[in-house]
Amino acid sequence: MPFQIVRNDITKMNVDAIVNAANETLLGGGGVDGAIHRAAGPGLLAECRTLGGCRTGEAKITKGYNLPCRHVIHTVGPVWTGGARQEAALLASCYRNALRLAEENRCESVAFPLISAGAYGYPREEAMKIAASTIREFLAGHDMTVYLVVFDRKSFAISERLYADIQAFIDDSYIGPDYELTESRRMFQNAPDAAPMATPRAPASQSAAQEKPRGKLFPWQRRKEADLAGSVHEELAERAVMADSLNDYLSQLDEGFRDMLLRKIDEAGMTDAECYKRANVDRKLFNKIKNQPDYRPGKATVLAFAVALRLPLPETRDMLAKAGFSLSHSSKFDLIVEYFLRKGVYDIYEINDALFSFDQKLLGSGI
Ligand code: APR
Repeated sequence: MPFQIVRNDITKMNVDAIVNAANETLLGGGGVDGAIHRAAGPGLLAECRTLGGCRTGEAKITKGYNLPCRHVIHTVGPVWTGGARQEAALLASCYRNALRLAEENRCESVAFPLISAGAYGYPREEAMKIAASTIREFLAGHDMTVYLVVFDRKSFAISERLYADIQAFIDDSYIGPDYELTESRRMFQNAPDAAPMATPRAPASQSAAQEKPRGKLFPWQRRKEADLAGSVHEELAERAVMADSLNDYLSQLDEGFRDMLLRKIDEAGMTDAECYKRANVDRKLFNKIKNQPDYRPGKATVLAFAVALRLPLPETRDMLAKAGFSLSHSSKFDLIVEYFLRKGVYDIYEINDALFSFDQKLLGSGI
């Protein structure tokens, strides 16, 4: 998944580079700046001393020292003073310049804190929006995995109204943990064509009829053999009939998930890349789906494509079914995605923000 929001301590992130929300001196401070310097050790400060500071909106790179990452990219966010002093543009340039430096240093994975959303007082929701949109813009043209590391719940939340609206939808629809089980039982029992399959008899071993020469058998054994041979013949005949109808049956195989996905991409007039980027799915996984017709992606990936293709709920259910899944009212994850599909909201980052707020996994690949 190219863009992920994760709840973690950024100093623990095992990525190629982490980004520090520094101040213009680059000589350390509190918050995430303090945490990074503490974890990196004195070598970081010594290198920072050689950099001659950093202007707001710009970024500079050092080594990672004792941190698990290779590099630390230091950037200085704007101090929030009400929004009339280019704060939004400066904040966006922090992300853009940090990502440029990451690319120049061949980083494949980068982790950001929510820059300026702490001591510098930037309103969290606005800071999150600028972070997400700038990172998405970069990922539209680059292959990199970018994490937005949220340190605590308060530093990240969707609007109270949206949270309450989704919670109400969940309360109305959520059935409870065993629902899926009864649901699938009900589906099986009530579906018209789900008459219980004739339990195929254990295949009578053909060799059983051949293994003992007939002359050595008692009459009752001979009878049993005859029955057996008869039923073997019957079984084989039955199988031949079944095989024909099975071939017919298989020849009517429905369009699979992969074929539906590719057809929908064409119908939407999208390129493959536009689709998987909008689905927050990485190129490798998309190619795997495209080249292996029987490959089954995870449910979150299938839903991510349905969102990227802006499929209405019935077609989303159809695409899920082709991958072997269904939307269930016993899963909060499913309900939250259904909430957005019913509202016609197909912005995967907005949906992921909500999923994150409800402690659910996110839409996209890798799940
Ligand atoms: N991991 C991830 N995120 C963290 C961590 C951590 N270990 N510690 C804090 N954060 C989060 C905060 O919750 C906040 O959402 O980082 C975000 C940015 O907060 P600050 O660190 O206060 O950074 P900022 O608002 O940009 O202010 C920068 O603070 O620390 C000083 O020297 C720094 O002067 C500079 C100013």
